[in-house]
Amino acid sequence: MKRPLLLSLSIVLALVVRSAPAQAPADDQPPVYKDAQASAEARTEDLLKRLTTEEKIKLLGGQHDFYTQGIERLGLPAFRMSDGPQGVRCAGPSTAYTAGIALAASWDTELARKVGASYGRDARARGVHYLLAPGMNLYRAPMNGRNFEYYGEDPLLSGLTAAAFVQGVQSQGVAATIKHFAANNQEYQRHDISSDLDERTLRELYLRNFQIAVREGQPKCVMNSYNPINGVHATENPWLNNDVLRGEWGFKGLLMSDWDASYNAEGMANGGLDLEMPSGKFFNEAKLKPLLDSGKVSLETIDEKVRRQLRVEFELGWFDRPQEDQSIPKDDPASVEANMAEAAGSITLLKNEGNLLPLNPEKFKNVVVLGPNAFLPTTGGGSGFVSYFHALGAVAGIEDAAHDARHKVIPLTWEPEQNVPANGEEGIAMVRSADAVVICVGFNDPGCWQVDHGSANEREDQDRRYDLPPEQDKFIARVAKVNPHTVVVLNAGGSVATASWIGHAAALLHAYYPGTAGNLALGRILFGEVNPSGKLPFSWEKRWQDSAAYGNYPSKEHPHSNTYKEGVLLGYRWFDAKGTEPLFPFGFGLSYTQFVLSDLKAEQSGEDAVNFSVQVRNSGERAGAEVVQVYAAPPGGEEGRAPRELKAYGKVLLQPGETKTVILKTKVADLMVWDSAAKKWTLPSGDYVFQAGDSSRNLPLKTTLGLHQGGA
Ligand code: BGC
Repeated sequence: MKRPLLLSLSIVLALVVRSAPAQAPADDQPPVYKDAQASAEARTEDLLKRLTTEEKIKLLGGQHDFYTQGIERLGLPAFRMSDGPQGVRCAGPSTAYTAGIALAASWDTELARKVGASYGRDARARGVHYLLAPGMNLYRAPMNGRNFEYYGEDPLLSGLTAAAFVQGVQSQGVAATIKHFAANNQEYQRHDISSDLDERTLRELYLRNFQIAVREGQPKCVMNSYNPINGVHATENPWLNNDVLRGEWGFKGLLMSDWDASYNAEGMANGGLDLEMPSGKFFNEAKLKPLLDSGKVSLETIDEKVRRQLRVEFELGWFDRPQEDQSIPKDDPASVEANMAEAAGSITLLKNEGNLLPLNPEKFKNVVVLGPNAFLPTTGGGSGFVSYFHALGAVAGIEDAAHDARHKVIPLTWEPEQNVPANGEEGIAMVRSADAVVICVGFNDPGCWQVDHGSANEREDQDRRYDLPPEQDKFIARVAKVNPHTVVVLNAGGSVATASWIGHAAALLHAYYPGTAGNLALGRILFGEVNPSGKLPFSWEKRWQDSAAYGNYPSKEHPHSNTYKEGVLLGYRWFDAKGTEPLFPFGFGLSYTQFVLSDLKAEQSGEDAVNFSVQVRNSGERAGAEVVQVYAAPPGGEEGRAPRELKAYGKVLLQPGETKTVILKTKVADLMVWDSAAKKWTLPSGDYVFQAGDSSRNLPLKTTLGLHQGGA
């Protein structure tokens, strides 16, 4: 059929407009984008106008693994990126911080803010603009190879920890990137296996932590994950990226892909992705030009992507100052101190039979330290790995804490094949005659991707075993049978199988991955100089079969089953709903002192918040910090709903005998539930039962408060 003349003309015109050279503003005016006094918005629009279509396309892909592209003609530099979740990885040696899971175990948002600021300073010391952290996918199963990078199983804890960390990073003029958006809860075949879950589960759990982080932390960047969600890859998912992240949450920043999480140019272009990393394998002229010419992708869509990138760069002042701040030492004592603080606040005491810990120097003079993780510093691997300046293993940390010489620390190496200390039977005799034994076990991945540490690896791109690495459980049982004063120190991103050894060990400390200086905190906790105050950010099951995801978590044996059949009942929500006893509940952690909680009060504060107050008294003889946790049950008792959910928490330090009133707040938005039929958030009206205590399973205080949609 003959094309009507007018229509043909308009098509020709549209093509001419598309490929026309960028409109060049008059030469005699100083370019607005170079004017540090102009607003980021005005500078962005001005620079955008000056770019050709080819230049715009160039900006949509990265280069050299960790850089954006620059446009020399206009003096637009390439900006630098770096991982990641255990320190600033990609710019030489650095301070290694605790793993993310440990930061979450501190339940301390102020600390997370300080630690974030410390990452930000480390980034500035190295001229890094974009920090590819924090990682914040929810903990669904212990085997996920990346749990150590993340903030545990609860969306509020994860969201608030991430928000505070982001604020800290960005306070230093560095962009934080929350990742991996979204529902990336296993590493096994992460590019291919679709996370299949209903909208309510997504909204209430796996998106909710990201939503809280965007709302409270205002991160400049979000990174899309590798996996498809309900069949559609995250990087080409318009519902996820355009409707929810941008439309509903108002995210104005830059959305980048995970490294090579790119599968289709048109899908990515229209699915909301702004920047393809580490290079434009799909976002390049050869692939995008035909899509522009055919009208499948509009120039406005491309402009919007460029706009988002430039705006972040102007907002953070990167055009106006060097990012590298040479006044900050690369090996910064302040960073080491921040790492010490997070390790001290996160190491979690889970078992302490007969108050074995802290090791009293009058009774426990000779302390044998041994095990596969006794000597080396421990860390998770993959892109979270940081090569540190200082390498401090557990023995060094414990020796440092024993410096007053009342304790004698006897390090013993370990012979895994023979399952005995390296000096064989002599070694066993030393274990037997020691006053106490500290046995350091768990995972360790002392290399990025280069070092194969066998089945002790814990890192991205693979899931890990649930059992401890080979021989370790037998070794613990053997040592603990010989010496009843055995303390187990565990390094892992989550829980492990314990059935064969937990009954034999007198004490258990979860040390996660404590970072450069964290083993100093471990030593001080063992000898009592630091009182442990970490609380589990995940539920620790007695056996894997008890967990919510059991039976529908993908693995070699069940490769295609990743339907989140547990729905909204993740973690403690599952244990509570099913009446199953966990080994250690979510929120649980012991102290060397005791706390008494009383007087829970709840009152509405304005239309959008509820305030709580709780009295906390330190009734013991040591100073210590307690985490007050408030859980809520909405009215209605709807079927399939968790009996209670965490809605507020706060950490308070108390001297012996001291009492403080802790004031906590929850936003009404965080009390809402997703109404699947109406497809919107709603606040069930009626009496809310609020319970407070020191773990999800010890909630002695209770109060009720009537709440209604649109006000009390
Ligand atoms: C990881 C990201 C990381 C990126 C760059 C990917 O393999 O999934 O978290 O930021 O590599 O190292």
